[in-house]
Amino acid sequence: AKAPVVLGIESSCDETGAGLVREGRLLGQALASSMDEHARFGGVVPEIAARAHLHALGPVVRAALDDAGLAPEDIGAVAVTTGPGLSGALQVGVAAAKSYAYALDVPLYGVHHLAGHVAADTLEHGPLPDPCVVLVVSGGHTSLVLVRDLVREPIVHLGDTVDDAAGECFDKVARVLGLPYPGGPAIDRAARDGDPRALAFPRPMTGPRTPAAHRYAFSFSGLKTAAARWAERHPGGSVPDAAASLQEAVADVLTRKALDACRAHGVGTLVVVGGVAANSRVRALAEERCAAAGVTLRVPPMRLCTDNGAMIAAVGDLLVRAGAPAVPPGVSIDPSAP
Ligand code: KG4
Ligand code: ZN
Repeated sequence: AKAPVVLGIESSCDETGAGLVREGRLLGQALASSMDEHARFGGVVPEIAARAHLHALGPVVRAALDDAGLAPEDIGAVAVTTGPGLSGALQVGVAAAKSYAYALDVPLYGVHHLAGHVAADTLEHGPLPDPCVVLVVSGGHTSLVLVRDLVREPIVHLGDTVDDAAGECFDKVARVLGLPYPGGPAIDRAARDGDPRALAFPRPMTGPRTPAAHRYAFSFSGLKTAAARWAERHPGGSVPDAAASLQEAVADVLTRKALDACRAHGVGTLVVVGGVAANSRVRALAEERCAAAGVTLRVPPMRLCTDNGAMIAAVGDLLVRAGAPAVPPGVSIDPSAP
């Protein structure tokens, strides 16, 4: 028998996503974002995000079905992000997913948001090799994880940020430099005309005295402070130089630690996902360093890198085909899931 079509629903932050996947193949997807509504606050406002999900969810599921040329009755299982994420935002997605599962009389699967990011790449490049190292780097997370079997083994966190996420750092520094929100793309653009060696920004947690426990951990709040101090002291200073120098520091630390992890664990494949995977310098440096180390680099296309419903459906599809147990109807959210 053919595996069922899995509807995936994502609502952990500011993107409302729905995707349809069967047997590792993406059939259709749709996305709505409340990013513009948060812009004037300089970051995601949880209450606004939750309300936007409520508004968008029905239409987004319908749009994903239309995109796939399918009807609701074609859905054979539902998967939803249960965490980590903003609790109000997660609740909207989980409540909707329960309703679809109940109404269609199909099983419901709970998905860890990070597992979703990891699985996103399988929709483009096929099954992941076991093991692989994945760098999940966005406005919400900066994690270096070791992945064996997404369905049977928990994701092993090698290191996480101890303060800000890398994307958050880009967003905050952009603000200080007078660039628009979201800051990552703006910094990327400004950096094209700048000199990455103009400013000596620190490379946090890379020095010889970095404790072993922080070998793969990240810290980006110091970079934000360094950039703010520079802006204060150099009114009228070169924004492109600051952008290029910051981008260089972030890309250097991310890729250095990712490749150290590959080397230490004897892993031959590095996957980079999340909004910051769009950064041109992060990509270029990852390519350069992977090539030098003989490591295969996998980066999915942008629409699969940022938060989306297809990645949640991809995990649901793996769970269904592995015969994993569905979650009970009373399943709740886990906003701070490890
Ligand atoms: O994955 P995503 O859409 O949402 C989450 O944060 O989960 O990632 C958005 C983040 C923002 O912080 C944004 O500034 C950053 O990704 N970003 C970039 C670029 N494009 C998006 N950062 C650096 N360079 C870019 N080109
Ligand atoms: Zn995410």
